Amino acid sequence: MIEVTSDLLCTKLKKRAPDTHKGDFGRLTIVAGSRGMVGAPMMATLAAMRTGSGLTTLAAPASVVSCVAVGLMEAMTLPLCETEQGGLDASCMETLLPHLQKQTACVVGCGLGVTNDTKQIIKNIIENTKCKLLLDADALNAIAGTPELLQSCAQTPVVTPHPGEMARLCGIEISAVLSNPAKLARTFAQTYGCVTVLKGHRTVIAAPDGTLFHNTTGNAGLAKGGSGDILSGMIGAFLAQGLSAVDAAVCAVWIHGAAADRLSEHMALTGMLARDVIDELPAVMKALD
Ligand code: APR
Ligand code: MG
Repeated sequence: MIEVTSDLLCTKLKKRAPDTHKGDFGRLTIVAGSRGMVGAPMMATLAAMRTGSGLTTLAAPASVVSCVAVGLMEAMTLPLCETEQGGLDASCMETLLPHLQKQTACVVGCGLGVTNDTKQIIKNIIENTKCKLLLDADALNAIAGTPELLQSCAQTPVVTPHPGEMARLCGIEISAVLSNPAKLARTFAQTYGCVTVLKGHRTVIAAPDGTLFHNTTGNAGLAKGGSGDILSGMIGAFLAQGLSAVDAAVCAVWIHGAAADRLSEHMALTGMLARDVIDELPAVMKALD
């Protein structure tokens, strides 16, 4: 098992050349949000922009876009058709699929909710898009019990389950996930050809070739809704910038935890908010420069 360190990150992160332009840092779309879960898309989008994505688009139910767009000044938005319940309507694929064909990477699932429509949408995205994909939260719940769908992805996908999502994905008990997370993550990554980020106090990252990474940054200040959405946006940003699926996951997981550790130097873990973690990301990355 490889321990993730700042030295390891320095070998993976790309420097920004002075004469560079936004096109060099990729196009990322975040498909997220539903009525009652408007913070998740916002946090994933802000975290992606703070992690250096060239052009970031939030694709969300139209009413969610109306709520959050003013807070996402630097992002673009793609308002999508929604059901009466305020989740994505399956017909949104007529707009979403052509859009995704032009994107480098796509993060899907944060606060999406689980409905028949979202299940169809996730399957459609997996089977019909060519860009790099990260599936989190409700995108994983949408394929619970059928992880073999991941094998239809055009490029190595990244999945970012917490133990409960991993249990649903695999159709096993949470206790079975917690009894040996590293072994389960590795078997899952090898079987389905995906980078598996199994989150927890000490997150493990498994690559499809069986390589395992162990992260030691992060603290209990992250044990709050929103932390996972931030991580997804960050991994998406690194995917958009051209890092491999495994490098994107390793770098984002370490930086995400390091931001919380930096905050803990002057802030009680109790009062730490996900938004504080997003604002701390540039300082952590400055120290890696
Ligand atoms: N120590 C270190 N890191 C931690 C700790 C801890 N004690 N607790 C949480 N973290 C980190 C995890 O490693 C992960 O990166 O914070 C992040 C939490 O991610 P999620 O569990 O996905 O949480 P999030 O999505 O923000 O919020 C919970 O997930 O269960 C669903 O729908 C549910 O809305 C809920 C959401
Ligand atoms: Mg989550």
